[in-house]
Amino acid sequence: MMNGSWSLVNKVALVTGASRGLGRAMALALGEAGAKVAITDLLVEGRAYDPDRLGEYGRLGSHFAGNDGIKTLATADEIIAPGAPSCAMKMDVAEPEEIHRVVLAITKTLGPIDILINNAAVMDNLGPLEEQTHERWERDLKVNLSGAFHCIKAVWPGMVKRGGGRIINISSVAGLMGAWLQPAYGSAKAGLLGLTKSLAIEGGRHNITVNAVCPGFIATEAVKLLDQNLLERIRKRTALGRLGTVEEVAQVVLFLASDAAAYITGAAIPVTGGSDLFIF
Ligand SMILES: NC(=O)c1ccc[n+]([C@@H]2O[C@H](COP(=O)([O-])OP(=O)(O)OC[C@H]3O[C@@H](n4cnc5c(N)ncnc54)[C@H](O)[C@@H]3O)[C@@H](O)[C@H]2O)c1
Repeated sequence: MMNGSWSLVNKVALVTGASRGLGRAMALALGEAGAKVAITDLLVEGRAYDPDRLGEYGRLGSHFAGNDGIKTLATADEIIAPGAPSCAMKMDVAEPEEIHRVVLAITKTLGPIDILINNAAVMDNLGPLEEQTHERWERDLKVNLSGAFHCIKAVWPGMVKRGGGRIINISSVAGLMGAWLQPAYGSAKAGLLGLTKSLAIEGGRHNITVNAVCPGFIATEAVKLLDQNLLERIRKRTALGRLGTVEEVAQVVLFLASDAAAYITGAAIPVTGGSDLFIF
């Protein structure tokens, strides 16, 4: 376990959408640094694959990228193994009442929340504007933007009371540059940057820092479902010539959560391998 300014010993962290992909890697990195971590997600191990529910989601069906990739409880167990307390709970970020209930439960189980990572998102709504429906637009904003707002609302009073906290919103390169065929996703991720900066101003007087991380293309289960030709094009227009790893994003989140980043707030940090640079 880590010592010094990157250590999170005695801190409590809540990560949303942490059953797999980037959220899981972030939870593991925070746990390794000594934090008590609450793993929350809409998806909990053991939920049967239900092809009929694919219609609720978008074209990529990334929600069902494979049940064996869903590790809500297993991630908590992995953190507990070397000795840090952890717990796993079902929490839908589109349900404000559920968020408040789960935040209370985490506070009882692990202690008051010092670090909130707003990672949960849906990114499967892919299509031209003519195919974009009002329902899908509303769903994307509800999960990807309002979800973060509600989670912040739930932890903020406690952070104010205790004189500090860390909030990290996972935006995207799509929030910086726009997203091809993903108008709702791009809008929500850009909205997260506005939320980050606005609350960083408000949080300053309470010693709450609010930052955003903007990953580029990271090799998660969801991204691996993309067409191979598209992935090759993405690699070609990324300065570092490859997709990122989940650990490379998790390390930046860990840094922002730690004392080493005490004077950083309102920042939007690209972790893109240079895919946000003008390459042709
Ligand atoms: N993978 C990438 O290349 C990439 C790039 C830029 C940004 N991001 C962002 O990183 C984050 C994680 O992405 P990922 O690639 O790991 O995706 P992922 O689909 O593997 O993980 C997202 C998680 O969020 C959960 N989730 C979805 N709706 C939810 C809800 N209503 N309540 C609670 N949890 C919910 C899902 O169940 C899933 O476990 C997202 O915010 C995504 O937008 C990813």
